[in-house]
Amino acid sequence: AEFDTVIHSGTIVTSEGSFAGDLAIRDGRIAAIGEKIAGGAQRIDAGGRLVLPGGIESHCHIAQESSSGIMTADDYRSGSVSAAFGGNSSFIPFAAQHRGQSIRHVLDTYGERAKSSVIDYGWHLIVSDPSDEVLTKGLPEAFEAGVTSFKVFTTYDLLNLGDAEMLKILSVAKKYGAITMVHSENNAMIKWMNARLAEDGHTAPRYHAVSRPELAEEEAIHRMISLAKLVDAALFVVHVSTRGGAELVARARAEGAKVFAETCPQYLSLTRDDLDRPGQEGAAYICSPPVRDTDTQEALWSHIRRGTFDCITSDHAPYRMDATGKFVNGADAPYTKMGSGMPGIAMRLPYLFSEGVVKGRITLNDFVRFSAANPARLFGMTRKGRLHPGLDADIAIWNPELTKRATLADMHDNMDYTPFEGMEITGWPESVLTRGAWVIRDRALVAQEGQGRFVARALPDLGAAPGWNAIETDPSRNFGAKIRP
Ligand code: URP
Ligand code: ZN
Ligand code: ZN
Ligand code: ZN
Repeated sequence: AEFDTVIHSGTIVTSEGSFAGDLAIRDGRIAAIGEKIAGGAQRIDAGGRLVLPGGIESHCHIAQESSSGIMTADDYRSGSVSAAFGGNSSFIPFAAQHRGQSIRHVLDTYGERAKSSVIDYGWHLIVSDPSDEVLTKGLPEAFEAGVTSFKVFTTYDLLNLGDAEMLKILSVAKKYGAITMVHSENNAMIKWMNARLAEDGHTAPRYHAVSRPELAEEEAIHRMISLAKLVDAALFVVHVSTRGGAELVARARAEGAKVFAETCPQYLSLTRDDLDRPGQEGAAYICSPPVRDTDTQEALWSHIRRGTFDCITSDHAPYRMDATGKFVNGADAPYTKMGSGMPGIAMRLPYLFSEGVVKGRITLNDFVRFSAANPARLFGMTRKGRLHPGLDADIAIWNPELTKRATLADMHDNMDYTPFEGMEITGWPESVLTRGAWVIRDRALVAQEGQGRFVARALPDLGAAPGWNAIETDPSRNFGAKIRP
């Protein structure tokens, strides 16, 4: 047959539009898209279904030790399976450098861990130790090998970098055209809050949210945007959780700075009241930055509509409610010593579909942009994220009308809870293909063991962002030149 697979009679959805039609696959690639396509060794009836680009999850923690050494509950097998059940055909977890490690060692380590993935993958590095060796050799080699993004932190004692180090690493990213992701919370402000709360004996999970005020995020986002503007580097602000943070991003973008950002379903759906449960139960809702309040949720949705955010990601950081995860430091540990993070890789897209598209906050085409097209463009997965002949046949088939309450069993991860338990969701992915191969078919796992492959990513496509004040800060052009008004 001319085509291996033809998905017919569905509604094909791209970031530009939607139409009734068929999609043909040959040799793992999209071969044709049209109104009626005949043939196909395998013909899949997508009547009443949406045919979308497979989701790209660009923020998740899989088989990763936190800086304090806690291993996530999901490895590449369970993490990729859960991602696929959530409509994703590829993902970009983090490969974390611990201080003293070479970048080569980190990439080798994660290369081994990722062999069990059932969907395609890349990594964002986490850089905690930007030594000269890392800046001049480790990072350039990683960029060359297709790891074209990395995350830095302004918080956590074992991760945070100072402003001078930030300027150095941003300059390296700028030089090579890579993109720097940043976790923005002011470390000293949080430690000061922790000390005051400890003095008063406040150790319960709810104080985690108190200890990390909105001011701490806003201060750090403002500082990081300023540093990135000075060197005119591309900056991606991860998990924005505050109105003030979103406003800073929006302003920087309006000025033309190369600033990009994401928020996550937990910041749109949960509040600090969720941490306020009997005993240690609130630990399930501890993540950093913390979930806020309903006013913030409305503000973040309005920024989603206004285009402040490029991506909506899960920040899947799975730590079980036991001694392997949240309570690694004991069942009675204070909030400062618990595993921080929430699972949600299977819920990111169903949540965004149900609360976004079905409730009329975003369009179906926006949904494709947030879930696949934008992460593909910004993180250089140039063969993915769009339905276009010649590109990888990474496809998700959705039932837009199925309504059901979310349960832990729907997550197919290695967790013992989901923060989205009981939430009524309309619209669920039913089938996922990666490079034309089935991963999930009619809500059943049919993947071949380890069928995911490493994706060497291109440099980010920054679109129309012109950059900010290169003229002001370029000495060769600036002497005697008029400073930009
Ligand atoms: O608390 C969280 N979100 N843990 C995951 C690590 C991170 O900073 O994204
Ligand atoms: Zn090691
Ligand atoms: Zn983070
Ligand atoms: Zn994260």
